[in-house]
Amino acid sequence: MPVRAFVFDAYGTLFDVHAAISRHRAAAGPDADGLSEIWRAKQLEYTWTLTLMGRYEEFWTLTERALDFALARFPSVNPKLKPKLLDSYRELDAFPDARSALAELKAKGLPTAILSNGAPAMLASAVSAAGLGPLLDHVLSVDAIRIYKPRREVYELATRALALPPAEIGFVSSNRWDAAGGAAAGMKALWVNRGGAPAEYAELAPAATIKNLSGLAALSL
Ligand code: 2OP
Repeated sequence: MPVRAFVFDAYGTLFDVHAAISRHRAAAGPDADGLSEIWRAKQLEYTWTLTLMGRYEEFWTLTERALDFALARFPSVNPKLKPKLLDSYRELDAFPDARSALAELKAKGLPTAILSNGAPAMLASAVSAAGLGPLLDHVLSVDAIRIYKPRREVYELATRALALPPAEIGFVSSNRWDAAGGAAAGMKALWVNRGGAPAEYAELAPAATIKNLSGLAALSL
């Protein structure tokens, strides 16, 4: 079945989660990258643990808690940077290829959507700051069901919004575990492997692995 719509993960796929630290690298000092890595890892860990416990707190709260942990883990980074890092996180840079990829898909008449763990307000400010709003038909947040990825119910938000069977949806994520979640829900997963990470989740293989979002519209799926 051909792909009739494309759904994108937000954080790490359209938006660069390390852009916040990049804006404050000099002030953060030598542990800047370590802090950013732990910030992201803890943010995701909290989504998984809460969902496994049957609990929910919105992604912004988890983002803030994860930053608190990262700052405690790297005491060399001045904790006064916290509000600046959070402000930057609200308006993360989109990857340079995000806008053109979305525009190419729209030019082909294909619907596009974001499907994200992000809370609606943080997604709205990131989408607006990056000027991606006109290129997206839907911005879908797990907040509607208060369960995080990779639970199947999350991916079903996209099949419902697009009114398409999962096999006709291309699900684009740079998070390999998230691409696996899309594949498990029956979507055609496209893994964006920007950093050359090793393969994993072999039983939930992506339909294609791409280095970045350029050329996405030219793939035959
Ligand atoms: C997102 O849902 C997983 O951070 C990722 O946007």
